[in-house]
Amino acid sequence: MARLLAASSTKLCSLLLLAITLFLAAMVNQSEAGIFDEIELIWGASRTFFFMDGDSEALALSLDQNQGSCFRSREKYLYVQIDVEIKLIDGDSAGTVCTIYTISEGPWEIHDEIDLEFLGNTTGEPYTLHTNIFANGVGGREQQFRLWFDPTADYHTYSIVWNPKHILILVDGKAIRDFKNNEDQGVGFPTWQAMRTFGSLWSAEDWATQGGRVKTDWTQAPFVSYYRNYNVTWCRPSPGVAWCGDEHKDSTHFDLDQKTLSDLQWVRDNSIIYDYCHDNVRFNATTIPKECTLQ
Ligand SMILES: *[C@@H]1O[C@H](CO)[C@@H](O)[C@H](O)[C@H]1NC(C)=O
Ligand SMILES: *[C@@H]1O[C@H](CO)[C@@H](O)[C@H](O)[C@H]1NC(C)=O
Ligand SMILES: *[C@@H]1O[C@H](CO)[C@@H](O)[C@H](O)[C@H]1NC(C)=O
Repeated sequence: MARLLAASSTKLCSLLLLAITLFLAAMVNQSEAGIFDEIELIWGASRTFFFMDGDSEALALSLDQNQGSCFRSREKYLYVQIDVEIKLIDGDSAGTVCTIYTISEGPWEIHDEIDLEFLGNTTGEPYTLHTNIFANGVGGREQQFRLWFDPTADYHTYSIVWNPKHILILVDGKAIRDFKNNEDQGVGFPTWQAMRTFGSLWSAEDWATQGGRVKTDWTQAPFVSYYRNYNVTWCRPSPGVAWCGDEHKDSTHFDLDQKTLSDLQWVRDNSIIYDYCHDNVRFNATTIPKECTLQ
């Protein structure tokens, strides 16, 4: 009996291993192409330029008083990891917003979106990294962070990890935000609408900097922000590979590791400056979003 059990559990183990291997192979389907091939400009093309920054394919977006600029990925992804290096406008960037985000197409009322928006500031004052997550059209999940370095002095890596169990936002590999799939508790989570990546540089001088008190100094224009090493790891439907949306969200592959958990704690202690879950002016015990009481 014991031998039989042992034999069948070994078999089970190897089956599980095979399943995990196949799954990883499906998940890590890496594109070889860089930013030149992966993205297209959708507005302000005349004021943007592609260039080689050493060995890296790079893109400069610019903004003047007439218009900003914006790119999007050619592909749509259902679950993805996006890493991109960004160098923000240096000097006086008040009123400007530089973004990297993913968004689904289709009706706004049910759209999904994962946002990183860098809110500019006057010379020497810190940028704010503003984040938000929409699922099935429900957003209002703002969290803001103070970066622990000067994001204008050099490139830093910003990542969005979206898998069936978590949405993670990372800065230089450090997790700053986790949004867990709590669908079974009635909280929306993006699970079926493919999203594209967008990056943009635009003006929001009526609200971006110090609540809109500081306007853009247009004599400093054009404002330029740089993107390079756009690296996207995503699931592609292909022969023999299940569409990744079919993967079970309970796979332990998606569990947060110890480093991620301690990064998130470090960020709570050192970097977060606004969290909708702790906004007592907006919410009370009856109106607080469900996920705030779960994570
Ligand atoms: C700009 O700097 C001020 C003063 O340090 C700070 O309060 C504010 O949060 C910074 N960021 C933005 C986007 O206003
Ligand atoms: C792209 O990201 C994947 C997943 O994190 C990583 O394994 C790979 O090394 C990265 N590629 C480059 C060129 O940085
Ligand atoms: C919570 O806020 C809602 C909407 O603002 C309000 O109607 C309700 O009375 C508040 N409840 C408590 C317990 O303060």
